[in-house]
Amino acid sequence: MKTPNVQPKFTSRLGFIAAAAGSAVGLGNIWKFPYEVGTHGGASFLFIYLICITLLGYPIVVAELAFGKAMQNDTEGITTSAKKWTLCLTLSTTLSLMMMMSLYHTISGWVFGYLIATLNGTLLSTDNPAIFFKNFVQNTPYAIGYSLPPLLAAALIILNDVKQGIERWAKRLIPLFLLLLLGLILYAFTLENAWEGIQFYLIPHWDAITLEVILSALAHCFFSLSVGIGVMITYGSYMRKEDSIAQAAALITLSDTLVAFLAGLFLFPFIFSQHMQPSQGCQLAFVTLPAIFQSLGYVLGNTMGSMFFLLLAFAALTSSISALEGMAAYLTRNYGLKRKAAVYWVVVATYLPALPTLLSCGGSTFFTNFWCYNGTTYSFMDLVDKALSIALPSTCFVFTLFLASHPKKLALLLSAIGIQKHTILARYLRWMLAYGCPLLLGTILCYSCYSLVK
Ligand code: PHE
Repeated sequence: MKTPNVQPKFTSRLGFIAAAAGSAVGLGNIWKFPYEVGTHGGASFLFIYLICITLLGYPIVVAELAFGKAMQNDTEGITTSAKKWTLCLTLSTTLSLMMMMSLYHTISGWVFGYLIATLNGTLLSTDNPAIFFKNFVQNTPYAIGYSLPPLLAAALIILNDVKQGIERWAKRLIPLFLLLLLGLILYAFTLENAWEGIQFYLIPHWDAITLEVILSALAHCFFSLSVGIGVMITYGSYMRKEDSIAQAAALITLSDTLVAFLAGLFLFPFIFSQHMQPSQGCQLAFVTLPAIFQSLGYVLGNTMGSMFFLLLAFAALTSSISALEGMAAYLTRNYGLKRKAAVYWVVVATYLPALPTLLSCGGSTFFTNFWCYNGTTYSFMDLVDKALSIALPSTCFVFTLFLASHPKKLALLLSAIGIQKHTILARYLRWMLAYGCPLLLGTILCYSCYSLVK
């Protein structure tokens, strides 16, 4: 059953930008981006990432916002008369969002647990941060107990309507977030050896650019911009008529990229100042950094550590809000559920699939050693991460292929963007959405499938 199409709206441009940028800026920027940079050769990854953002990320954010705004509905709306595409897009966005949330609930729980452990001093008084981390993630009651408060906080915020909930909170959290980040950068620059970290981060080595680097940068670009999971489509449908999509998308893309860039700017000087390895993978924030905070002494280390995990917790919260909102909006619009019931179902539907991920870091042997391939054992979480890095570009590929093969819908979409038809930007967007994005994404995806089976 469908509800009458009365759309909630953001009440100000700033409110909309804050909420959408809050969705984009998340764990991806502060937890994932630095470790991707660290494991994929530093500045070379950054360089490819910036290309991906400009060539593919920005046009797709524009298209998703316009898609939502033009049709004032989720994927169902724009694809009326294109049932197979609707099904394919709805399935792939839902699947991608579920995988994203399964990772998100897990890492948000770790962040929350680490915030508490930093505030009460247990993290900094541990002898060995690596063992502390291992014990922490293996402890099932901890993993589950700490993952619930962030989820419930996000759910409570979206129980209110768009204006009272998301808009009000995003406007408060984002400035606080930026202040914390700037404080950490200023401090990092005063450290010995900070310059070495900056060089690693900013001076590319061309021979480090491989297919794996390109694929990781591409997947991370979509992860970070919150595209391929339907969230930007929902937010686009909340935009007011007079708001310009091209401008909003530019602000979202810029703020997301800027925060990721700034996160690297404080992390690498920190890491190099302590002569540590930047290629620690996903443990960078939970093992390497606490060791660094410890070396700063109890008071300073605790202050920096608490600031850092508070920053991460804010970032995770604003993104979780957008994900839950996207799904709740879908349920209220397409199945006529009341907001309260929709939020309840979304919490259950995203939390249950997160349980195997939560248990896959030692809590359960089955999920920890879930898959063995070519002598390497992958946990359930590793597999979700890998699957997500293929699902996000694939969803965006299907989306742009749909637009490319439906010129009338593409024209409709472009007319909702709010820029003059003959400007360079309008031509660039038209060309990228009709040809550039599907071709580039298709080629990269085919090539990665080929290299997988080779
Ligand atoms: N863009 C978020 C990030 O960078 C990811 C995300 C988006 C997660 C939307 C959930 C919902 O972390």
